Amino acid sequence: NDMLRWQRTGFHFQPGKNFQADPNAAMFYKGWYHFFYQYNPTGVAWDYTISWGHAVSKDLLHWNYLPMALRPDHWYDRKGVWSGYSTLLPDGRIVVLYTGGTKELVQVQNLAVPVNLSDPLLLEWKKSHVNPILVPPPGIEDHDFRDPFPVWYNESDSRWHVVIGSKDPEHYGIVLIYTTKDFVNFTLLPNILHSTKQPVGMLECVDLFPVATTDSRANQALDMTTMRPGPGLKYVLKASMDDERHDYYALGSFDLDSFTFTPDDETIDVGIGLRYDWGKFYASKTFYDQEKQRRVLWGYVGEVDSKRDDALKGWASLQNIPRTILFDTKTKSNLILWPVEEVESLRTINKNFNSIPLYPGSTYQLDVGEATQLDIVAEFEVDEKAIEATAEADVTYNCSTSGGAANRGVLGPFGLLVLANQELSEQTATYFYVSRGIDGNLRTHFCQDELRSSKAGAITKRVVGSTVPVLHGETWALRILVDHSIVESFAQRGRAVATSRVYPTEAIYSSARVFLFNNATDAIVTAKTVNVWHINSTYNHVFPGLVAP
Ligand code: FRU
Repeated sequence: NDMLRWQRTGFHFQPGKNFQADPNAAMFYKGWYHFFYQYNPTGVAWDYTISWGHAVSKDLLHWNYLPMALRPDHWYDRKGVWSGYSTLLPDGRIVVLYTGGTKELVQVQNLAVPVNLSDPLLLEWKKSHVNPILVPPPGIEDHDFRDPFPVWYNESDSRWHVVIGSKDPEHYGIVLIYTTKDFVNFTLLPNILHSTKQPVGMLECVDLFPVATTDSRANQALDMTTMRPGPGLKYVLKASMDDERHDYYALGSFDLDSFTFTPDDETIDVGIGLRYDWGKFYASKTFYDQEKQRRVLWGYVGEVDSKRDDALKGWASLQNIPRTILFDTKTKSNLILWPVEEVESLRTINKNFNSIPLYPGSTYQLDVGEATQLDIVAEFEVDEKAIEATAEADVTYNCSTSGGAANRGVLGPFGLLVLANQELSEQTATYFYVSRGIDGNLRTHFCQDELRSSKAGAITKRVVGSTVPVLHGETWALRILVDHSIVESFAQRGRAVATSRVYPTEAIYSSARVFLFNNATDAIVTAKTVNVWHINSTYNHVFPGLVAP
């Protein structure tokens, strides 16, 4: 029906049908961005036919689907070609390491390589005849050994270091390290890259990479595989928490001699501290884009509707718009995640609004026409006098448990309502909530409220978010990408991110609207500038002359 058809996105990566999940890394090769991803060619949910889908693009946004790169067709991957990583080696070769689910559901690691390196599309892949190249080592359970990833190449002894996520018998997350010269013979190192300090369980899709800590180095080549730790660098360890289904990262240092990662602050280690995204976002992976000298992050955004609706739609899950990753040299405490600049080339009609006063308890409709594919950039100021007059307030405020956008405080919530109907009975609210702590300092919470995002039943709705640093003299800044059934929001130019899947029933087609709102009880908030662009569809399709996956 119409409503379900409307949920298909206009500019997100989305195969024509069926289930997709983990991005299995991307690479730039002979003029094309290649993207590999978990794909089930036979249905709208995960099952043992899980395979590697493959697509190419010139700009990370307009995609051509290619035939699947890898499918389960050997005993060592009979129950699925699971996640792994494609790596462009410094000598020009390409290797794929992936986890196979064997007939008995043992997780083993396998090697595949392109048949023809001179084919820019890398259409054909062959699996190594010595697969599996790794089976679970003693002490590791058969089902806790997955998502291999070559992190570093040692030029002096030509050895690659490959890491694999796991957990120990006490349920602590661990990262195993193997070395190899040929991707066929491997040696397990006695030490591990990192172990979590809390029993967070299995670490999926582990990623490790450097970020520059000074602005002058920010855009320099930061290709982990050939780089030595040194001044001006920090390292990011990321893992997907199987128990909790969130992607956490930690900032820290990396020591080559011991091949260990040490978080700067143990109380915000991976699994308990910072997240790439406070909403729906999982199994992410970065790749180093040597073409534009940047690190790019992909994650998949699953469904929170019913299996029945997925079956009716004929598809499930999206990939987020790729995000660049930089270290935040202002706060020094977080990463900056931002949609790749190519998105801006999809912007069409621009509506600009300036200095709009938002009185306590009011909304303001932004007249932008059909509001289903948008890129919104907004900056807010909160009335200084109201801030000064506010003593300690809302010290226990928390996005998830404090009632969302309807709960009024002295200095918030204020922000935007997207995918809203005219009556506002359907809306997704992205907002700031400012409070004053016991120490007298202001704290800003950045939240996304899904509670009224759909009138349909059987949908998981939450309020997601976290606190976000707002430095002295800064305005409160939001960027929101709206695309039918997904809302990706960035606070303070990428210091905190929240992605939601939403399924409006009335705020669809030309009935979808966007509003500013201020639900504070005391403070006048001014929307200093608001830019709303319509975003063109990317009309992804199968590569000319080839067959759909
Ligand atoms: C993460 C994950 C990976 C695994 C893959 C299988 O979503 O569980 O650990 O390799 O999915 O599809």
